[in-house]
Amino acid sequence: MHTLLTNAPQVAAAFIRRGEVVAFPTETVFGVGADAFSEVAVRKIFAAKGRPADNPLIVHLADLDQLDRVAARVPEVAQRLIDAFFPGPLTLILPRHADVPRVVTGGLDTVGVRMPRHEVAEAFMRACGRPVAAPSANQSGRPSPTTWQAAYEDLEGRVACILQDDRTEAGLESTVVDCTGAAPLVLRPGAVSLERLQTVLPATRLADADAPDTARSPGTRYRHYAPRARVLLIDDPAEATPGQGSAYLGLHPPPELHAFRVHTLCQDVETYARELFHFFRRCDAAGIKAIYCEKVPPEGLGLALMDRLRRAAQG
Ligand code: TXA
Ligand code: MG
Repeated sequence: MHTLLTNAPQVAAAFIRRGEVVAFPTETVFGVGADAFSEVAVRKIFAAKGRPADNPLIVHLADLDQLDRVAARVPEVAQRLIDAFFPGPLTLILPRHADVPRVVTGGLDTVGVRMPRHEVAEAFMRACGRPVAAPSANQSGRPSPTTWQAAYEDLEGRVACILQDDRTEAGLESTVVDCTGAAPLVLRPGAVSLERLQTVLPATRLADADAPDTARSPGTRYRHYAPRARVLLIDDPAEATPGQGSAYLGLHPPPELHAFRVHTLCQDVETYARELFHFFRRCDAAGIKAIYCEKVPPEGLGLALMDRLRRAAQG
């Protein structure tokens, strides 16, 4: 399949309306989407990514008018989070509307919904004229794409079109919050911090990664975010071993920063989060064998960053 590269949201949207698959930018990472109401189109996403069929997709909305078409109802807690954080990098798990094909939700009776806060994404989805089901635009297991080139690297020849744009702002995926229980439950930490959610709903808590609770977030079961190189998490920069096969990413410099073949120092956790997946791909391109990543305190955006780092280190 030829993959068309374009800067025009309308051109990309025409493919969605014809039942094809398109990679597009958001404020978090690039997504790869299809018409959320077309079972045939959505199946093409799973094929393009090599994604397990039981890992559900997020449905992306251009505006709140589309919400009632995908959710059977909107619980009170969800409404509070929508008022506070939509549009933005937050995904809510809601009861699934019967019109949403089960292939989208991995067979679940719930559906993940989010409204990106991103000019190009919004123009694209408006032109689609329907909700767009989309996971991150990487091959399953690989780091999420934060540039259109990364999406191209993983999906060239497998999708009809890539909507080009600048590097994404957050660099990490949306926060996923289950709103179907008594208290909101964070299934995946992300760009909206737990602390910010708690300012709106103090009862919000983090799902225990090892508890049966997370059977509700099938995505957390799979290997994720992994570069080809080994990822090693360190508390102290001095623990990193420099060399031609080594890379360093962190907030503080190791003793011999320039002895690492690839290295980036980040001025704060936000920059670290934005840099992470891009850095992993740079390392793979350079043939790096070991990537040393400095740990950060698991608070604010640091919680999501540590979640991605730990999963990458398991890879
Ligand atoms: O920022 C983002 O969320 C990006 C952009 C493209 O929107 N998307 C993204 O999608 O990261 P994906 O498929 O890579 O991750 C979605 C996560 C998975 O862990 C999946 O299991 C979970 O959300 N999820 C989706 N629907 C769900 C549902 N109904 N119940 C539980 N978890 C769900
Ligand atoms: Mg993903």
